[in-house]
This record gives sequence, C-alpha cells and structure tokens, in this order.
Amino acid sequence: MKARILVTGGTGYIGSHTVVELIQAGYEPIIVDSLENSYLQVLDGIEKITGIRPEFHKVNLRIKKETEDFFNTIGNIDGVIHFAAFKAVGESVSHPLSYYENNLNSLIYLIQEMVQRGIKNIVFSSSCTVYAQPDQLPVSEQAEIRKPYSPYGNTKKISEEIIEDAVNTYPLNAISLRYFNPIGAHPSACIGELPQGIPNNLMPYITQTAKGIRKKITVFGNDYPTPDGTCVRDYIHVVDLAKAHVIAIERLVSQKNATKYEVFNLGTGRGYTVLEVIHAFERQTGIKLNYEIGPRRSGDVAAIYADTSFATNVLGWVAERDIDNMVITSWRWEENIRNIYGSLFN
Ligand code: NAD
Ligand code: WQD
Repeated sequence: MKARILVTGGTGYIGSHTVVELIQAGYEPIIVDSLENSYLQVLDGIEKITGIRPEFHKVNLRIKKETEDFFNTIGNIDGVIHFAAFKAVGESVSHPLSYYENNLNSLIYLIQEMVQRGIKNIVFSSSCTVYAQPDQLPVSEQAEIRKPYSPYGNTKKISEEIIEDAVNTYPLNAISLRYFNPIGAHPSACIGELPQGIPNNLMPYITQTAKGIRKKITVFGNDYPTPDGTCVRDYIHVVDLAKAHVIAIERLVSQKNATKYEVFNLGTGRGYTVLEVIHAFERQTGIKLNYEIGPRRSGDVAAIYADTSFATNVLGWVAERDIDNMVITSWRWEENIRNIYGSLFN
C-alpha cells in the first residue's frame, strides 16, 4: 500500500514541487493549506505534471479547532512534511507577533495531533537563517545556532527547539531540513513560485524585471568582502530540494534514521554572488537586465553557503541542477504565470 504523507503548505512553492516528487515516487500526498499564500489552481499544475490530482483540504493550522477537526476526518497517515508557515522576512519585522502566532502555533497544534494519533514521523522546513552569519564557510550542521536577524528566522530557530524537545518526550521522529536559497521551477513551467506583491527575493525580482513588471533591480550593496563585492548565497533548485524531502520522509517511514532527531543542510555547497546570478540569467535568456547598485539591505549577511557533506553521506542526496538550470526554469515559469493565473500576477 502507498504510504500516505500529509503535506502542510502543499500548494505553496516548495510544497507543490514536493507533492509532485512524492507522487512520482509512489506516495499518496494529502495537502492541507490555508491558501493564505497560494492558490487552488496549483492543484491543476500538479495534475498536469503527474496525471494525479492530490487530495486537498483547506485548513488553517494555527486555529486549533480546525486542525483537530481535520485530523478527525483524515484516517491513517504515515508521515508529515510540514511546510506551512509565513516566510517574508521584511513582513516579519513589521508584524512579528503574526509570525510567531502562525509559525509556532501551527507547529504545536500539528505535533499535538500527531502525538495523540500515533503519527510518528515529521520532516520540517527549516532555514540557513538559523546560522545568521557563521564564523566558518561552508557552514555545517555543527555550527553554532545564533539568534537570526528577523522574527521570521527566529520562528525557525524556536521551531527546531520545539521539535527537538517534543522528539525527546514523545514517540516521534523528526528531520529538520535547513534550506539555503531555493529558486527555480518545475521544468514543465506548470508550477513555480508565486510571490504576492513586490517580491523581496532576488530571483522573482530578476524575472519580473526581465518581464517588464519592475523597472529595474537594485543590487543591495557592492562593498561586501566577496569576490565582486555583492553578497554570496547558496542557490538551490527547488526540484533538488523537493527530492530531498522524499528521501527524508522515506528515511523516517522506513525507520532508517540514526537518531530520533536529525538535521541536514540542503544547498549545493557552492556560493554565487548577486552579480553572478544576474549574469547567468542574462546569458541563459539573452535578456539584458536593467540593474543598479544600491545601498546594503539591513539584515543581509555578506556570504553563506552550505557544507552539504552530511546530506550527501547520510541521505545519499546531492543537488544536481546548476545555476543555469535554476535561472532558465525560473524564467520559463515567469513567462507562463499569466497564462495560468491571468491578471492575478501583474
Ligand atoms: P510558500 O508561502 O509558497 O508556502 C507556504 C504555504 O503554507 C502557503 O501555501 C501558505 O498558504 C501555507 N500556510 C501558511 N500558514 C498556514 C497555516 N496557518 N495553515 C495552513 N497553511 C498555511 O513558502 P515556500 O517558499 O514554499 O516555503 C515553504 C517552507 O519552507 C516554509 O516553512 C518556509 O519558511 C520554508 N523556507 C522557505 C525558504 C524560501 O526561500 N522559499 C527558505 C527556507 C525555508
Ligand atoms: C538574496 C541576495 C540580497 C533582492 C531569504 C531569507 C532566508 C531564506 C531565503 C527562508 C541577497 C540580494 C535581493 C533584490 C538584491 N528564506 N538581493 N536585490 O535574503 O539570502 O534569504 O530567503 O527561510 O531566510 O532571509 O534571499 O533572495 O532575499 O536575497 O540585491 O532586489 O540577493 O541582498 O544578497 P536571502 P534573497
């Protein structure tokens, strides 16, 4: 029988790509999402790619009663991949309590239901933001966890602590995956990132500038101690990321985990500067980007990239898609968004 995997936030950017990979690996994903930062049409994209329309439930996990009611109806679940969270760093600075309320309550209510119903396996979406600016690069999972620079980041640090404490007490096993900078889209261009309003992140800002939706892109600072002065990040293709989730949940469901709580970095291990990403995009698409150098953005670390050897050695996972693939799939998705969503994304 197919293992049934509950995917919270499954209509979101990373969640939808993971649902595709789960279906293609023979799992039965069940999506719950509040649709606060995603759309039901994402299910059409998943169906187009896989031929299967996954089961979907509109549930707001930070409302305890909704979470309980949902679990009362759902039957047997073999594992949970928990993506549902708010993720905009800047918004978390202006609305810190909403971020703590959503990201922490959703996690707590979810785990309470899991414990009560004997669901033993959870994979959690964490972030490299828990390292803040590490002393050593590449950064490994052994590096010190520091208070992140934003309330959003802090919800990831606290969530990891909640999970670790829960795992120590209850019959639960967990894997936290610390993503570096996910970009790219499914090669079909049927699903991808759907930023609402003006994007905060580099890649959607680039594609929207190329599309003419934004006039120009500002590079936030060129006086960092990096090869060209712009910040270095470890960009990772969302499909590679999604595949790692399938491996992680498989590890838990088949009880191959070495300890009750494991943590893995998910990156490529290679850093790119902002200008390198812009130039890769220009090379791959033939579009000249209108960009200018501006001041630094507050809260940005100069450089961060992953030591991925633990994920490679233990999970047997390695990111296969390069920066050219990341930028070109992001662009194909940008070109297709309005075909799918009409004027919703202007
Ligand atoms: P996303 O916003 O596209 O997806 C998150 C989904 O969760 C959305 O569909 C949203 O509607 C849903 N959601 C939010 N609150 C909910 C709630 N209370 N109940 C039910 N559904 C809820 O974000 P994403 O980029 O796919 O990120 C997925 C996860 O990965 C998040 O936890 C995020 O913090 C984490 N993460 C993302 C990045 C990144 O750069 N995208 C990096 C590191 C970690
Ligand atoms: C990348 C680089 C910017 C926009 C964030 C979160 C992190 C994780 C991933 C969730 C930086 C530069 C950007 C622009 C620019 N998310 N930039 N002009 O800040 O590394 O990480 O997303 O967990 O927690 O903090 O990603 O895409 O915003 O920026 O020059 O218009 O691009 O300064 O160097 P970031 P990003």
